[in-house]
Amino acid sequence: MIARTFHDRVIAPSLLAADFSKVGEETTRAINAGADWLHLDVMDGHFVDNISFGPAMVQTIHESNDIFLDVHLMISRPDHYLPRFIAAGSDCITVHVEAEHDVAETLERIREAGCLAGLALNPATPFEQAVPFLGMIDLLLCMTVVPGFGGQPFMESVMPKVSAAAAYRKEKGLTYHIEVDGGISTATASLAYAAGANVMVAGSTTFGVKDMKAAITAIREA
Ligand code: DX5
Ligand code: ZN
Repeated sequence: MIARTFHDRVIAPSLLAADFSKVGEETTRAINAGADWLHLDVMDGHFVDNISFGPAMVQTIHESNDIFLDVHLMISRPDHYLPRFIAAGSDCITVHVEAEHDVAETLERIREAGCLAGLALNPATPFEQAVPFLGMIDLLLCMTVVPGFGGQPFMESVMPKVSAAAAYRKEKGLTYHIEVDGGISTATASLAYAAGANVMVAGSTTFGVKDMKAAITAIREA
């Protein structure tokens, strides 16, 4: 795993948009297309109004491919399921500030396990709600759609939050990545880069297109 800093542009295709009948091949396709990370959208049908997959999927991919697994837990009790996602081989585990857990404790446990710790904010959640935790994370995920489904339109109204996160990081000398997730294309990626994000999660514009390599290159160069 190549250590990347927030100065690096990172492209993380979301498996949510892949063909679930051939997950192994799809993961290999993403690697060959130049993906840096694989974004795994875990949904529990409670925190979000959809159900996707659990630790078994993370484990399957971890055992069949060698790519950095960026696990996004859209679940109400990330503290309860954390051991299983750690054991499954997650490289980064991102939890929602809005979920029902002791956020600081969960983030600490993720790092203790040797994983990168990520904190996610829904579009409606103000940046201020993340501030108490910014010193204990490796990644801040600013959702650019309401979580639950791929293929939704990008919410440009989230960009001031991305800029605030980048400004705060500079002011405090912190080093967390800023990730955006939802509606990312070359056009919206350039807005997100300009605001200060460096990790682009994209599903329908990567797994959802024929020439994934061209798509990933275009988003990286946006
Ligand atoms: C929402 C998911 C989606 C997905 C990306 O809960 O997190 O944002 O990863 O989907 P697209 O790229 O199709 O918006
Ligand atoms: Zn996600």
